[in-house]
Amino acid sequence: RDSKVHQNLLEDHSFINYKQNVENIEIVKSRLNRPLTYAEKILYGHLDNPHAQEIERGVSYLKLRPDRVACQDATAQMAILQFMSAGLPQVAKPVTVHCDHLIQAQLGGDKDLKRAIDLNKEVFDFLATATAKYNMGFWKPGSGIIHQIVLENYAFPGALIIGTDSHTPNAGGLGQLAIGVGGADAVDVMSDLPWELKAPKILGVKLTGKMSGWTSPKDIILKLAGITTVKGGTGKIVEYFGDGVNTFSATGMGTICNMGAEIGATTSVFPYNNSMVDYLKATKRGEISEFANLYHKDFLSADEGAEYDEVIEINLSELEPYINGPFTPDLATPISAMKEVAVKNNWPLDVRVGLIGSCTNSSYEDMTRAASIAEDAASHGLKAKSLFTISPGSEQVRATIARDGQLKTFQDFGGVVMANACGPCIGQWDRQDIKKGDKNTIVSSFNRNFTSRNDGNPDTHSFVASPDITTALAIAGDLRFNPMTDKLKDKDGNEFMLKPPTGVGLPPKGYDAGENTYQAPPLERSAVEVKVSPTSDRLQLLEPFDSWDGKDPTDLPILIKALGKTTTDHISMAGPWLKYRGHLENISNNYMIGAINAENKKANSVKNFYTGEYAGVPDTARAYKKQGQKWVVIGGENFGEGSSREHAALEPRYLGAYAIIVKSFARIHETNLKKQGLLPLTFAKPEDYERINPDDLVDLVGVTELAPGKQLSLRLKPKSGEAWETPLNHTFNKEQIEWFKAGSALNKMAEK
Ligand code: F3S
Repeated sequence: RDSKVHQNLLEDHSFINYKQNVENIEIVKSRLNRPLTYAEKILYGHLDNPHAQEIERGVSYLKLRPDRVACQDATAQMAILQFMSAGLPQVAKPVTVHCDHLIQAQLGGDKDLKRAIDLNKEVFDFLATATAKYNMGFWKPGSGIIHQIVLENYAFPGALIIGTDSHTPNAGGLGQLAIGVGGADAVDVMSDLPWELKAPKILGVKLTGKMSGWTSPKDIILKLAGITTVKGGTGKIVEYFGDGVNTFSATGMGTICNMGAEIGATTSVFPYNNSMVDYLKATKRGEISEFANLYHKDFLSADEGAEYDEVIEINLSELEPYINGPFTPDLATPISAMKEVAVKNNWPLDVRVGLIGSCTNSSYEDMTRAASIAEDAASHGLKAKSLFTISPGSEQVRATIARDGQLKTFQDFGGVVMANACGPCIGQWDRQDIKKGDKNTIVSSFNRNFTSRNDGNPDTHSFVASPDITTALAIAGDLRFNPMTDKLKDKDGNEFMLKPPTGVGLPPKGYDAGENTYQAPPLERSAVEVKVSPTSDRLQLLEPFDSWDGKDPTDLPILIKALGKTTTDHISMAGPWLKYRGHLENISNNYMIGAINAENKKANSVKNFYTGEYAGVPDTARAYKKQGQKWVVIGGENFGEGSSREHAALEPRYLGAYAIIVKSFARIHETNLKKQGLLPLTFAKPEDYERINPDDLVDLVGVTELAPGKQLSLRLKPKSGEAWETPLNHTFNKEQIEWFKAGSALNKMAEK
């Protein structure tokens, strides 16, 4: 149990720390005096301070030390730029960056990849050089999708990792807690700050029985989504248990954990079992499974009698395939009911495109099962009636199915093999078969099917199903087709039924790694130059923010008094702005453009206090910034709810905000503001929000004595009439006050 075992085959500096995990768990158990679930063991095994940490599920905030960080290309840009601005020589924990989101599917694999490399050259060059400089692993475009690469190379039982992508939980299929976060959290871990997470509740899902025929792991999560809805997992970890968990593959468990994101779960996890051992061995990591076996009882399983906050039971023997959608992944219809439901709802019945693969469902098993169906159809002289695409999750999966023949089966069947990347799953799909506004149906084995997600067409009815059902529906070309009961006609008009799929969990000849697409950080990194063109409109190096001037601010104008709901989308819109995620100056042009000005009830129209002229919110902020004038924002309830987008905090800081004063904050946004050196403050008397005129000037009294739990005061100076004061609360602790004084959390880290 004392051996030093590497976390993976690619890094020689990262080791598995089971001993420390178990010591932490023992400390926590002696304090809590109760059995722990498996998910709790992983969390508490990674506590920063197991002696002093308060632990109450659903209540306390845990300070954790994750084992590693994974970032995809779209979110990595700002995370790395921020990390760089701290001036630290290298990342504190193992980090990998994966190029998968920026590759658009158009003509198929190689051509699309070449085009994407051309189009995104500056971003890929930046990521390649910055990862090399700061000691991170870099997976080049074409290597595959982040979650598949993590499963194949980095995931191991009992680990805690964070990833800047919502489907990071995929790695729960190998018995680890993998949690999707925003860039700001990734920067914390990269720079050795503990990472904070509200102690999740634990939703136990008990699996009994065994699946057969057309049912596959995807159907477990499709059914669960129907039970819990898209919000049912919020603030919870889904922990699977029961005999049923030992009846299918680790990659199947990965699919289920991946789509836990669709019910809003913090993450999902399966306990360590034999399927994981098999997968670890097949991916050349037998040493890890031997090490894990030594810790099976005290770490890698739930304690006897561990209690869940709630339990849902699913009998796998009775489970039938599901088709979920359209427009939401929790609208679950068992395949036997689809005929009726589809007609009743007037959903387009022609299946225009069937899409398999993605990070959710592109294991060797998924591919061999789908290929067995395609082969069966081909033996009756049929091809896919719908368009059919395959997005391999990784170069390894692609090369292995190319070697073993499934890829050819798909191509003969009429399939188009896309690049090893996200492609149509994230809307990177130059779809040609329909026009925008055409009402149509597509079925995929992906995870999300919100309006417009796949092809940007709000009239596309997108359904999610297993790769098996997707393939069967592509053969029939009809949403009502049920392969378990319905017949097809072969090329001569004779009726036949498709055989249930047969697949192989792991490749009998082992995996073929394919092309080497990994770039390890060099040992000598000081000479590496990070490539950011000064003329780029997509990337911009960040300057550290100024430190606090040590004074109470006076006469600050109110940039905007926001009315009603102000989410992170109102604060920093997505859509076309995604392009500028690595360019703070450019993306700041979207600051608060979606928020409603309480004064004139308009979006993106505020009055400049000094000139009296109306202009856009970012333009007015820039005008203030130009004259060296700091400003504040006034807002309502749950300000900053939505995503963990750090840009929503970076932008006001960049544009010269001093404080954001609201009735209440969404917690993540509040923390993000603190991290960027801003003052998030709340009205002690929320009704005073109403008394504030957008053209009042404000003083903040007591900033010089900022201390935990001590109120500040807001002095309002109306253009006419008496000045008045109202108390303000804050939630700064001692450490966070240091962030404010230093100008940002990163500045503070750099000082250290
Ligand atoms: Fe990519 Fe879609 Fe997965 S965007 S990471 S393939 S959910």
